[in-house]
Amino acid sequence: MQHRGAWKSRWTFMLATAGSAIGLGNIWKLPYMIGVNGGSAFVLVFIACILFVGIPLMMTEILLGRRAQKNPLNGMAKLAHEAKASPHWQWLGGMGMVTGLLILGFYSVIGGWVLSYIVEAARGVFTDVSGAQSAANFDELLASPFTLFFWHTMFMVMTMGVVARGVNSGLEKANNILIPALFAILLVLLGYSMSVGDMVASYQFMFSLDFSKITPVAVLSALGHAFFSLSLGMGSVMVYGSYLQRNVSIARMTIYIALADTMLGLLVGLAIYSLVFANHLAPSAGPGLIFQTLPIAFGHMPWGSLIGTLFFMLVAFAAWTSAISLVEPAIAWIVENKEMKRTTAAWAIGLAVWLLGIAVLLSFNAWKEVKIIFGLNIFEVLDKLTSTILLPLGGLLMAIFAGYLMKKTHSQEELGLSHRAYKTWRLTNNVIAPIAIVCVFLYLFGWVK
Ligand code: PHE
Repeated sequence: MQHRGAWKSRWTFMLATAGSAIGLGNIWKLPYMIGVNGGSAFVLVFIACILFVGIPLMMTEILLGRRAQKNPLNGMAKLAHEAKASPHWQWLGGMGMVTGLLILGFYSVIGGWVLSYIVEAARGVFTDVSGAQSAANFDELLASPFTLFFWHTMFMVMTMGVVARGVNSGLEKANNILIPALFAILLVLLGYSMSVGDMVASYQFMFSLDFSKITPVAVLSALGHAFFSLSLGMGSVMVYGSYLQRNVSIARMTIYIALADTMLGLLVGLAIYSLVFANHLAPSAGPGLIFQTLPIAFGHMPWGSLIGTLFFMLVAFAAWTSAISLVEPAIAWIVENKEMKRTTAAWAIGLAVWLLGIAVLLSFNAWKEVKIIFGLNIFEVLDKLTSTILLPLGGLLMAIFAGYLMKKTHSQEELGLSHRAYKTWRLTNNVIAPIAIVCVFLYLFGWVK
């Protein structure tokens, strides 16, 4: 057994949790999901999901973690004991750990794309690039398993290297500077897109209110992405909450984090679509979207190679801090239960995820047509399984536990809210969020059409 780490201040907790939330989900995934799911319809539902499901459930997850003061599996066991509920609740923690590792399996491959783009930007590959050329460059990357393998391996080594060293010695200080820096560089990008791109079209695409375009699939993906983007439903936030001091307001932290996370994603979206429309590209390009469009901006702006390099470095950093939070629940569990050193645990888990990542990267080339189930390849299966099923399911179970099984006095004590605010949390946690998730599941499994 090793000593548990603890955050030095509420500020480091907030930055670490924001670091977990802000990542490829905002910069890579949200923009292309908006395009694939019909623009503003998706954005609207996504924002609603953040407000009515994401924010209350983030509070729930932090409160569970802080009360348990343990990794998710033992933590849920302890809370279940305290609430006189079934010990099987611990498997909720177990499910979260597995979910995190499954996500990391593809997250690391995409993180690798970002790393390779740092080098491309620095080499000046983007200079004066056309839309078609940029798309071709990206296709070339996807078509080379060895390059993907190299960068995926680099990303995994970077991630596990930090995880092996533990919670306090890792990235807290870097977080302080780099997340604000990411915001700053994004504003530069946004300014540039505004001056040369088609910001009006972008704005309309993302924000025109047209309820008729909302489809069940868009709702499903938006809910899943609210979980993914806020890192909810798998124990990352729970484990970070378990390192949080008692006197910090969970609600305030949550609102700051959710705001920063959502704003960042939407800003990237605006910048991207402004370029997409000005360059006559397809909004529904899918996972390659930012890799095909951003080089056009960096290739034409003054100091583009430098700004592009910096941008991809910051994105890599954001991805890195999220990746670390994806493995932390599993590592915390091993370290707190098995006679295994943190370092050994980190490299063992890293190896397993690395192997999974190899299967994922092949699904962009050699195994592209290898469909596992429902016509989806390995990458698509992992992505859909985690975002649309496992994360919302984890969130649903946490909400039920905190809302119906845990003693009211306990949740009240952790949240420390005024009577009225507490009631609002209870309404969203106990009723609104569970109903939303259940409805989506009913649709997903074809029980309602
Ligand atoms: N929230 C992270 C992102 O947006 C991904 C993530 C999901 C991290 C779940 C931890 C847990 O990139």
